[in-house]
Amino acid sequence: MKKKNNGFIYCSKILGTGSYLPEKKLTNVDLERIVDTNDQWIVERTGIRSRRMAAPGEYTSDLALAAAKQALSQAQISAQDLDMIILATVSPDQVMPNTACVLQKKLGARDIMAVDVSAACTGFVYAFSIADQFVRTGVYKNILVVGAEVLHQYVNYKDRETCILFGDAAGAVVLGRADENDASEVMSVHLHADGEISDLFVLPAGGSALPFSQEVLDQELQYVKMKGREIFKHAVRTMANSCEEALQHNNMTAEQISWVVPHQANLRIIEAVAKHCSIPMEKVVVEIEEMGNTSAATVPVALDKAVRDGRIQRGQNIILTAFGAGITSGSVLLTY
Ligand code: UT7
Repeated sequence: MKKKNNGFIYCSKILGTGSYLPEKKLTNVDLERIVDTNDQWIVERTGIRSRRMAAPGEYTSDLALAAAKQALSQAQISAQDLDMIILATVSPDQVMPNTACVLQKKLGARDIMAVDVSAACTGFVYAFSIADQFVRTGVYKNILVVGAEVLHQYVNYKDRETCILFGDAAGAVVLGRADENDASEVMSVHLHADGEISDLFVLPAGGSALPFSQEVLDQELQYVKMKGREIFKHAVRTMANSCEEALQHNNMTAEQISWVVPHQANLRIIEAVAKHCSIPMEKVVVEIEEMGNTSAATVPVALDKAVRDGRIQRGQNIILTAFGAGITSGSVLLTY
């Protein structure tokens, strides 16, 4: 029998969710005009038909703000009630200050802790786990967790392997304290990283190892570089392992799970993970078709869409799972 609270003082639960997709769509047909690709190839190999692009002057913090407002409204709390902001991103407004502080200002929140988490596409799951710990220990009560990206700035639209995948979006969750008799609770979090294979997906320039220079621009090192086929294999393995680890830890079977909300990187990756874990695709939230891979934003956006259209209901057991550059990976098992 699972012990409520896992030995901590409190238990956490999701109080509200929100999401935001920029208006501008970049369709496969649009990409056909830019690179040597075609709609059929992209749909068959990835499941993506279009992705969104932030407008000029629309920053990661703006996308985060729109998603955060929705999550706060659904949680029925104001920005003033927040005790902490954690923002997962690999495309911050700028390196310094962190985007969480920019969001804090835009939200009009109090002088609470505001921090960015960098774990690529696993960023939201990592950020969520940090929030969960602060709630469990009783240090904080209401925490805003956001995954937000403006990835199109880091994509080389001459590289057909990457430019077909990535898009811009933000998703948010307010995590709060569950009452003692509350059915909703976060049951477990499992996180991993394997730096040995960190070269599979990189953004080479812009850090202290390779600051911007004319050479960087000439060699186009300001854009993401990816070993797609290799990542594919690790994506399936790590997300499937994370789901199984969560089920085992909670002494549960796949039948007891109502929904899996996986990182939306490629439909074929999602299908392979589901098959590996014996979870029918009817129980998997898939939102990749119209948004592509939005890194740290995919899990909270997919979660929010499924909550708002009624697929996900209170009391259901849900697994969130993600993998990303690092290679990072992880899962959250919760009763919504
Ligand atoms: O969040 C983590 C970020 N990264 C990922 O999740 C990426 C994971 N990997 C993938 O999603 C897939 O590996 C890709 C979508 C990137 C590529 O799909 P694939 O089925 O693994 O294709 P492939 O690399 O095996 O390439 C098959 C063929 C190649 O041509 P040849 O050598 O067989 O003649 C490629 O050059 O498809 C070609 N190709 C394309 N053709 C049309 C590669 N990209 C494209 C393209 N359009 N955009």
